[in-house]
Amino acid sequence: MVAVGRRVIGCTVHALDDVDSTQAELARLAGEGAPEGTVVTARHQQAGRGRRGRFWWDAPGEGLILSVLLRPPVPAAQAPQLSLVGAVAVSDALEAASGVEARIRWPNDVLLGGLKVGGILPEAVSGPGGRLAHVILGIGINVNQVRFPADLSGRATSLRLATGTRHDPGRLLEAVLDALDRRYAEWLAGGFAVMRDAWRQRSATLGQPVALPEGGGGVAVDVDVDGALLVRAGDGGLRRVVSGEPEGGERHAAGH
Ligand code: BTN
Repeated sequence: MVAVGRRVIGCTVHALDDVDSTQAELARLAGEGAPEGTVVTARHQQAGRGRRGRFWWDAPGEGLILSVLLRPPVPAAQAPQLSLVGAVAVSDALEAASGVEARIRWPNDVLLGGLKVGGILPEAVSGPGGRLAHVILGIGINVNQVRFPADLSGRATSLRLATGTRHDPGRLLEAVLDALDRRYAEWLAGGFAVMRDAWRQRSATLGQPVALPEGGGGVAVDVDVDGALLVRAGDGGLRRVVSGEPEGGERHAAGH
């Protein structure tokens, strides 16, 4: 365990080797009263969680795998916004650490050259009165992988594949913690609206065809002040698509 002089995010970092999932490790610490900003990293996950119950694949030591404990004093309905906050922070960090310009696919994918380099998974636990007890914000970034399993081929990339050179995951971790500290503070102070323009500038989704949750499709035309995607449907109407409808129970994944 390493304590560093950061304001909130990364106040304490538990650097683990081989785990089931950093989300599960941090959930245990959260239950024991760990403070906001506590981080768990791992070299490898046996059962890395992606959105919608998917498996998050990594190659041991080649990726950046972390979970961050957040205790925002906001209604539980705002938890899905943390997908977008995390994606903006990860794109900030990739640019700061390696100079690349990442794009964001709503709500929680980070892309390089049109391929997925990272993903965000906010898992929220509700408390009394519709407030959030806490959110465990999972972040996975492909850093130095050069090969992916067949089912990811043509969809995933790594920072190394995108830039042609190896990168130091430790340095990228520092950049992610710095960026998340700043973006999370902005979000607490002013909501997603504060980073809406930054999101728009990096969006890979606006202007693209998207599927609607109720069926059918449309074209993504904007993102709302609360992070909802605004979609012009085939019938001409404007629909708001909110990420992270609860999947039932107390804990739910707030990803798309
Ligand atoms: C996605 O599906 O895009 C979200 C992927 C999130 C993966 C990260 S890796 C660190 C943390 N631990 C997990 O088990 N999942 C998240």
